[in-house]
Amino acid sequence: MTTTLVDVHLTEADLEEQLRADVASGLSANPKNLPPKWFYDERGGELFEAITRLPEYYPTRTERALLMRAAPEIAAASRATTLVELGSGSSEKTRLLLAAFAEHEGLKMYVPQDVSEPSIRLAADALAIEFPDLPVRGVVGDFTDTTASLPRVGRRLVAFLGGTIGNLEPGPRAAFLHGAAGAMEPGECLLVGIGLVTDPAVMIAAYDDAEGVTAEFNRNVLHVLNRRLGADFVPHMFDHVALWNAGNSWIEMRLRARRAMRVCIPAVGIEVDFAAGEELRTEVSAKFTLDAVGHELAAAGLDPVHTWTDEAARFALVLACRRG
Ligand code: SAH
Ligand code: AVI
Repeated sequence: MTTTLVDVHLTEADLEEQLRADVASGLSANPKNLPPKWFYDERGGELFEAITRLPEYYPTRTERALLMRAAPEIAAASRATTLVELGSGSSEKTRLLLAAFAEHEGLKMYVPQDVSEPSIRLAADALAIEFPDLPVRGVVGDFTDTTASLPRVGRRLVAFLGGTIGNLEPGPRAAFLHGAAGAMEPGECLLVGIGLVTDPAVMIAAYDDAEGVTAEFNRNVLHVLNRRLGADFVPHMFDHVALWNAGNSWIEMRLRARRAMRVCIPAVGIEVDFAAGEELRTEVSAKFTLDAVGHELAAAGLDPVHTWTDEAARFALVLACRRG
């Protein structure tokens, strides 16, 4: 029998305060922008899971195939007794790691960390059936706050899968990597999933699927603002835009106003004007070269020890360990 404990570092009230601050600054900026963290209410999490099953969205299935190949080596090389996963979502691919650890020396604890408490609880309930002897201790928190996210238990492997690191812009990404390395002991490792630069048409299609699931995921942030802040966005009056920004090496998702609109956001006490055609940036998803990844990790004091890539070189898993 397992018991799921969840440590809440971010309460609903904290989240609401952060959302108000992000909306106040992001919607008064030029160009307007919102951080991607606000996509993920319950519906946003479901839409993301639907994205992972789309034919165009190659990152999830590519990373899963890499994990199937690499998991035993990861378990052996990290010698971890605690697996901490940042932005764990459904923990779906994590099962491959958990199974490999079970074959190896066995983990003493799995710590899924996410901004969404329902995701952690759902994932933990499902894992309790598959891995009944594995204690799961969830952490509700922001992965950019690694000192609060990483419990000090055993020898830790920190997994950051899915390419989510690419959702951080370069400054916050460097801060995140330094923070993570600083919170790790010498010899502990970070396992990071990385989207690689590939054919722009392939990358764009992954963020602009034919069925329109990604468009719904993108518009979901407006539903979140309506529900949490009493805003009066009309989501279907915004078009989904996905483009490759080669200069910054990232995919950008935007929402483009179909006509001029004034939106009232009572909980923030503001009214926001959109011109016809004006765009709101909702996400960047950076894609990397292996050289660039190596430099960013090394600059934070994390030495890459193993790298796995698929044949088409679209995605990489990198195991990088804290310098002693
Ligand atoms: N790792 C999973 C899920 C990726 S989706 C996979 O590879 O499939 C991104 C996840 O990160 C979501 O579950 C979302 O709730 C979470 N997330 C987004 N921004 C976050 C933040 N700032 N702090 C913590 N979790 C965050
Ligand atoms: C969670 N993250 C890695 C996804 C990505 O590919 O950047 C989020 C996503 N956005 C659109 N589709 C999926």
